[in-house]
Amino acid sequence: MTTRYRVEYALKTHRRDQLIEWIKGLLAVPFVLHSQPTAVFEPEGESVDATATRTQRRYAEIMRDVEDIVNDHITHQQTGTQHRSKLKLLVPSVANFFTPLALHDAFIWQDQRRFISMRRFVPPSFNDVRLILNTAQVMSLIRNGPLELVTFDGDVTLYNDGQCLTPENPVIPRILKLMRNGSKIGIVTAAGYTEAHKYYERLYGLLDAIYASDLPQSAKQGLIIMGGESNYCFRFDGNVPDMLKLVPKQEWLLKEMVLWEESDITALLDIAEASLRDTVKNMRMDATIVRKERAVGIIPQPGNKFCRETLEETVLIAQKILEMSEVGNRLPFCAFNGGNDVFVDIGDKSWGVLACQQFFGGIEGSKTLHVGDQFLSAGANDFKARLACTTAWIANPTETVQLLDEMAELEEIQQRKLR
Ligand code: IMP
Ligand code: MG
Repeated sequence: MTTRYRVEYALKTHRRDQLIEWIKGLLAVPFVLHSQPTAVFEPEGESVDATATRTQRRYAEIMRDVEDIVNDHITHQQTGTQHRSKLKLLVPSVANFFTPLALHDAFIWQDQRRFISMRRFVPPSFNDVRLILNTAQVMSLIRNGPLELVTFDGDVTLYNDGQCLTPENPVIPRILKLMRNGSKIGIVTAAGYTEAHKYYERLYGLLDAIYASDLPQSAKQGLIIMGGESNYCFRFDGNVPDMLKLVPKQEWLLKEMVLWEESDITALLDIAEASLRDTVKNMRMDATIVRKERAVGIIPQPGNKFCRETLEETVLIAQKILEMSEVGNRLPFCAFNGGNDVFVDIGDKSWGVLACQQFFGGIEGSKTLHVGDQFLSAGANDFKARLACTTAWIANPTETVQLLDEMAELEEIQQRKLR
């Protein structure tokens, strides 16, 4: 039994978010005790609305309690004792929070849209909790505004996997609005290209819209692209071809990054490449190895789709081998499953976001939001951004648009309060 448990744990732990699972578990109790599934066939009992109101109150109380436990963790953070907080005992994988989370209010907000308390057969789910956490995060950021920097992942966050940001993408006017309100924008993507033209091809809808907009020059220059996780930095510039100007490394590299040795980079990529080659051979994958200056990956032969299990296996092997290597302890790297490819990049999105913050004059983590789709603890590249700033975990580009609309609505409420 113990062995079986361990196997299950080893296999699944990287596919779970412990904080979300814990909150889901807490909400399961009022669901079991208060939802009334029999009302479907016994209509003479309590009305649906009365049950929902009671259940909502219980859920909301729990979210208030969780909010307090998070605040207690933040108090511990301030004295460097976060490893001793109650939350750490309950959710050992929890890291630091950059802001409190308005969980009670966010629950009510999402309940009014998702009718969680109305449900009698489906308990609060992973996605319910994920969206409540996103709302709680943006509520807190906006109440303590202004939000100075928003960084976005590319694939799956701004556009569908492997696609481009085309002119009709509804995210474009929302990003322009953020820029108009004074937020800086960073696109922190794993896609690693040395030439501006490649990024223009992926992002032209947004870049053309910024060019054509009436935003002041200074606001337009508030957009940068951080490519290859944390390896290439381009800034919007309407006067150059492709509208992107390569920023010289000395203008944006963090001082720790200057110490990354070329020989270490080559050594790490050599180990990663050997691991990828080995897995491709063993798993009989129809793959091409791509070696770049700062990354190595496998991409499918045209028309081929790898299954999730194979992609995950490939990532986890590469990650383990690199973790065990000497150079892997000296140099940060990120091994991840890109949906139908696997890449190992030098650096990761925590460095990417930190570099954006420094570039814009030292913006704090509590004034920065990173929006991305990959937040599992292994094989996912947005996860590391949590070390640098607050985050929102979206599941597709439509959710990104919804999140930005929610932020605009909350901003309006906030402005009305201040008037
Ligand atoms: P993201 O979701 O914007 O971080 O982009 C991830 C995708 O970029 C990967 O799944 C790859 O398809 C693509 N990509 C292109 N070049 C690179 C690279 O050098 N490293 C990692 N991913 C890359
Ligand atoms: Mg992505």
